[in-house]
Amino acid sequence: MNANFSRHLVLALAIGVGALADSAAAAPGDDLLATYQGQGAGPFSAAAGAQAWTAKHQVEGESRSCATCHGTDPTKSGKHAATGKPIEPLAVSSNPKRLTDPAKVEKWLGRNCRWTLGRDCRPQEKGDFVKYIQSL
Ligand code: HEC
Repeated sequence: MNANFSRHLVLALAIGVGALADSAAAAPGDDLLATYQGQGAGPFSAAAGAQAWTAKHQVEGESRSCATCHGTDPTKSGKHAATGKPIEPLAVSSNPKRLTDPAKVEKWLGRNCRWTLGRDCRPQEKGDFVKYIQSL
């Protein structure tokens, strides 16, 4: 192997390893954050998401928050307020399926925001929730 060829080989390997590291660094939910950013929101804050998680809203004569169904600790299972059905943990660290399907997340954020806040969440709020769920 001549020196020039091995230098190229080393370079090619380095690029390959770099690409792997890049794809490993993309966490579930990062694609959603990019979408919300494209809608003019960001930067996103896990702390703001945590605060919004337990913030109470008066809707239809009830006091509601995300924790009403998911519990105050998203690393633990929740329980649906209306049906009593168990809900698996939302935190990615406890439940690797979470935030892996952007269409599912958008669908549920739509329903859950309308039920909890009485309106749609803004892209900034959705991004903060995603950041919070990623961070736990
Ligand atoms: C009335 C009960 C209820 C409330 C309140 C609620 N959720 Fe949910 N949420 C659900 C149910 C049911 C699902 C779907 C079942 C599942 O995925 O386990 C879900 C799913 C989700 C998902 C999908 C995650 C994934 O990748 O699978 C996200 C994100 C989410 N909720 C966030 C929120 C946020 C943020 C709030 C507060 C604004 C909230 N939820 C309030 C019941 C609720």
